[in-house]
Amino acid sequence: MPIVNRIAAFHDTMIAWRHDIHAHPETAFEEKRTADVVAQKLESFGIEVHRGLAGTGVVGTLRAGKGKRAIGLRADMDALHIDERNDFAHKSTNPGKMHACGHDGHTTMLLGAAKYLAETRNFDGTVHFIFQPAEENEGGGRVMVEQGLFEKFPVEAVFGMHNMPNLPVGTFGVMPGPMMASFDIFEIVVTGKGAHAAMPHQGIDPVVVAAEIVGALQTVASRTTSPLDAVVVSVTQIHAGDTWNVIPNEVVMRGTTRSFQPEVQDAIEPAMRRIVDGVCAAFGASATLRYERRYPPTINAPKETEIAAAALVDVAGAENVRRSLQPTMGAEDFSFMLQAKPGCYVWIGNGDSGHGCMLHNPHYDFNDGILPLGASYWARLVENTLAR
Ligand code: NI
Repeated sequence: MPIVNRIAAFHDTMIAWRHDIHAHPETAFEEKRTADVVAQKLESFGIEVHRGLAGTGVVGTLRAGKGKRAIGLRADMDALHIDERNDFAHKSTNPGKMHACGHDGHTTMLLGAAKYLAETRNFDGTVHFIFQPAEENEGGGRVMVEQGLFEKFPVEAVFGMHNMPNLPVGTFGVMPGPMMASFDIFEIVVTGKGAHAAMPHQGIDPVVVAAEIVGALQTVASRTTSPLDAVVVSVTQIHAGDTWNVIPNEVVMRGTTRSFQPEVQDAIEPAMRRIVDGVCAAFGASATLRYERRYPPTINAPKETEIAAAALVDVAGAENVRRSLQPTMGAEDFSFMLQAKPGCYVWIGNGDSGHGCMLHNPHYDFNDGILPLGASYWARLVENTLAR
């Protein structure tokens, strides 16, 4: 059972929706126009619309039959702070903002499935179409959950989908367990004692201390967590000093950490604190460490993974559903929904011809060719899970 014919029949309509959203990108919690477009389309399909969760969040609710079961399908609506370098007709009209992660396509595929399901209603139960703001950095998914998403819209399971460049068109990826990593950020301020660069012994050089800390932090991955557990500790900014011959008073470093297991994520901060404090003590400097948890790892539940995989096989064929991909160290705030409810997050291949740019690249574009595939997956997932 390949792509749903009835969905393929309005492929051009979905392309027009996608291009309109692409041309009008909006970033975290400012997705006002996008939310208006989504709500207006859902209403035009005859779907009940709820607005206001996390500010710009939109939830559409569609019921069929007398069934009491309910599932949630989620798409993200936000764009990125990137100046688009593409030069096609649907390029961004908002300077400095761009749909460079394909959330325009994700929103369109879920709208396509909503249109089809509202017309056919070939299922028994309730589907909540969840359109969330602020997936990038700001955790709109977390905010929706905290503001009562699943109390207002109870579901037995929740499902998400993201495009993946270089995964061939027509293929999907899914697996149980971690799909994406946790995402935390940190800031370290090392305070020494400024001095003349020619007389370093009269001060405490925070640059030398910071250099030791950067090296020592790599032992969080290599010596304080199991070699079988993936951990990344990346220092991505070092700021200190203004001139050639002055040892500065302090160094500010910032960066990010990634891991897959909650217990490993728990272990990173204390290890970093021990290293920062210990290295500073050895040199007579002092430091503060601010460690902020952003996103937990995205972990698929075993049962819902099988449910999702079966729907993917229906649409794409077993040979096109990759079950043993490597997870990525990227992060995703759908993880907050998966902490609250069992569910599954899948990847849909965005292909490479003309669309081979990685996500967040200023030349990236979502592949319009896969819109019916993604919408068909959503449709089959509902029809299989809430079968009449
Ligand atoms: Ni994304």
